[in-house]
Amino acid sequence: MAPLSSPGPDVASASGVPQVADIPGERLAREDPDLGEVIVTEDEIRDKIRELGARITADYAGRPPLLVGVLKGAFVFMSDLSRAIALSVEFDFMAVASYGSSTRTSGVVRIVKDLDTDLAGRHVLVVEDIVDSGLTLAFLLRNLAARQPASLAVCALLVKDTEVTSPELSYIGFHIPRDFVVGYGLDVAERYRNLPCIRRYNGQLP
Ligand code: IMP
Ligand code: MG
Repeated sequence: MAPLSSPGPDVASASGVPQVADIPGERLAREDPDLGEVIVTEDEIRDKIRELGARITADYAGRPPLLVGVLKGAFVFMSDLSRAIALSVEFDFMAVASYGSSTRTSGVVRIVKDLDTDLAGRHVLVVEDIVDSGLTLAFLLRNLAARQPASLAVCALLVKDTEVTSPELSYIGFHIPRDFVVGYGLDVAERYRNLPCIRRYNGQLP
């Protein structure tokens, strides 16, 4: 019997180079009818992160930011983004929950896990997965601004086509249509966070 770690005949091509269809996330998508078209590819995400990282590195030269990740969705983006920033950044995380459904924000947000760091005098860069209505972001910014940071800005991987404008939203990866999307940290009921790209979700929302 083959060991569990054996990739099996369909994972590697004859040359030993994995084929696109054999990337784990792609295989997942092939087998799941709820996963729709790719909205942002893995390559587009990688290139954009390189670009955002370079901009952040230039903008924060001499004042390395404290990266504040908003759990859980931002953990994948924050991990890659931080490694594209050539500054000695620090990390903290906070978790918020919205009352009501897990897929649509009610606007009433509460902090489930607060930061460990005192923000007074710090240059804070909030890292968000997605801004939809902007209600979660508005709550976060109000809350964090009250802690007297030296500066406060936001880097969001995705912004849905809404009227959301915020002077703090300094770094945006991609503007996307208003469809529900999953992957690269984004979930439906905790699933799909490990997809390497962003896909439309065609299934039933809880
Ligand atoms: P907002 O308060 O309407 O801007 O919603 C923000 C939060 O809702 C995000 O941090 C996500 O947790 C969730 N969310 C909004 N749109 C999507 C989506 O398309 N896929 C997955 N989660 C989403
Ligand atoms: Mg979610």
